Amino acid sequence: MEVVVIKSSLHTYAPGLNRRDFLIASAGTFATMAMSGFPQSAQAAAPLLLPPLPYAENALQPVITAQMIGFHYGKHHKGYVDNLNKLITATEYADLPLEKIITGTSGQPDKAAIFNNAAQIWNHTFYWNSLSPKGGGEPPAALKQKIEAAFGSVDACKKEFASAAVGQFGSGWAWLVLDGDKLKVVKTGNADTPLTTGVKPLLTIDVWEHAYYLEYQNRRADYVNAVLDKLINWEFAAQNMG
Ligand SMILES: [Fe+2]
Repeated sequence: MEVVVIKSSLHTYAPGLNRRDFLIASAGTFATMAMSGFPQSAQAAAPLLLPPLPYAENALQPVITAQMIGFHYGKHHKGYVDNLNKLITATEYADLPLEKIITGTSGQPDKAAIFNNAAQIWNHTFYWNSLSPKGGGEPPAALKQKIEAAFGSVDACKKEFASAAVGQFGSGWAWLVLDGDKLKVVKTGNADTPLTTGVKPLLTIDVWEHAYYLEYQNRRADYVNAVLDKLINWEFAAQNMG
């Protein structure tokens, strides 16, 4: 497995990882972390750095090309990390875990820039882990059973997921979440994240134009359906479900 680290500093932050765990993960076992879901992080790690991709930049081709990831991960995702570090330097947020920054600034207009960049870091790391070169296909049995209970079938779930992703007006995200004991599909605009709404995110698809425009231009539905058919990481969803 290739681990891509854009910024070579002492500490890189990934949602769900404390500093020590990340250093272990970054030594070559990031896949283990990725497959273990996103437990709440226990410690702060500053400065925040761009988490490594859980696969090589060309691993999702042809659905998502290396060039798409080069811009999306290497420019956009990295940009949010760089922005947030500037915004939180010498503030009360400087030493907080990413999730705490997100929940602590949500809904506060004067903290919107911090929230937007923090939430986008988390959302993007969650997105990369929601995809897999071995994705698509059938969900694990326990997840499949829950999907069938909520949507009737895996195909119906995918259809609702796609509908939310394609129907999100403007920039945003489509999500499969666990609300109490029931699976639901929701969508969020801009940087908004289900993390602030009391539900547990299981999977996401990024529908900002920067996620697909390079190869798909205006064909968002083609991008979304290809992701759901070929890349969606049901294993990651099952592990997030717990
Ligand atoms: Fe994005």
